[in-house]
Amino acid sequence: MMTLLEKRITAALSQREENGLARKMIPFERKQGDMLVHHGQSYLNFSSNDYLGLATDPSLVSAWQDGLSRYGCGSAASPLVTGFHQAHRSLEAQLCEWLGYERAILFSSGFSANQAVIFSLLKKDDLLLQDRLNHASLMEAGALSPARMKRFRHNDMTHLEQLISPDEACLVVTEGVFSMDGDHAPLKDIRRLTAERALMMVDDAHGIGIAGPDGTGSCAASGVKAELLLVTFGKAFGLSGAALLCDQATGDYLMQFARHHVYSTAIPPSQAHALSHALQMIQTQHWRREKLQHLQQCYDDAFSSFAGYVSTPTPVKPLIIGDIESLQTTSEMLKSKGFWVGAIRPPTVPEGTARLRMTLTANHTEMQIHQLASALKESIEVCFDR
Ligand SMILES: Cc1ncc(COP(=O)(O)O)c(C=O)c1O
Repeated sequence: MMTLLEKRITAALSQREENGLARKMIPFERKQGDMLVHHGQSYLNFSSNDYLGLATDPSLVSAWQDGLSRYGCGSAASPLVTGFHQAHRSLEAQLCEWLGYERAILFSSGFSANQAVIFSLLKKDDLLLQDRLNHASLMEAGALSPARMKRFRHNDMTHLEQLISPDEACLVVTEGVFSMDGDHAPLKDIRRLTAERALMMVDDAHGIGIAGPDGTGSCAASGVKAELLLVTFGKAFGLSGAALLCDQATGDYLMQFARHHVYSTAIPPSQAHALSHALQMIQTQHWRREKLQHLQQCYDDAFSSFAGYVSTPTPVKPLIIGDIESLQTTSEMLKSKGFWVGAIRPPTVPEGTARLRMTLTANHTEMQIHQLASALKESIEVCFDR
């Protein structure tokens, strides 16, 4: 006999399967640069967020190894117990200086940092305004928070202006670069609308390291300073973890009250040490951003004639296919030709906009982009008889 909970679990899984939305987790044997190996087969990876190509860079690997020799493996405690180390403090200080903030609070993931901010800052009767395409970590926190959450239409400033209320404690949250669409938020306009009326938070997971002078991100690129800035380390930094940048008082408050910080094991000091190295690489290795710019131009030249092409100013390149079955067929065809491309389906993106999400990294070459375009053209011709 199944319990009610077990029945619910089974029903949810069958529903996912029936809707063609079941997700799979694939264990790769090896990842190196822009290559993935699965069942002994090599694939060109156009599906990572390793925008600057740091994740398997030998100098970053050595930095982490050096950190391991100095500090051992785990931090062995939460930050307020004994998990916080000089290596963490030094990373925080570097981030503050680089991005122009008084405080940086480290988290083990961007997901937990977003949840921590929303749960600890907002109370009942507060107002949370979010772009409707914000990341799941922000949306879920908003839905579970006692604050009232309203979603404004994507990048629609008229709608945001209608919703902002100066009479309520109000937080406005946007991504800097939208992860599934690759477009920028109008940060200058959001800053203007929020000035003295609301706190502004920018999740710059996909902009940090890439946009702005020396990779300082989307806010710097727009000449804007948000009260709260989230940067994650799982993308351009090539590692994992996150930091929330803010002023002294907000930092003190989060340190005291953000449960995801207080009650969670600190990231290993060796990782903080490696992150400091990644930061130096981001600051000094301008060629990575320059190469990415060049590859973006190549992408536009090669793909702009495709149906579903979307022009974006970032390395995130969506190609809208529409329905889930066609997406599945196209992505399987691409795999059979040796290309691994993200197939993004609802509920991650709105119904009817299932898409290939191609991401460019500084490890790719111009030739590989042209090879991907030819493979996609052939796949589309075969799949859709176009
Ligand atoms: C916009 C955005 N915010 C937050 C996150 C979560 O970051 P993390 O992977 O470090 O948990 C992601 C990750 O995919 C993201 O795309």
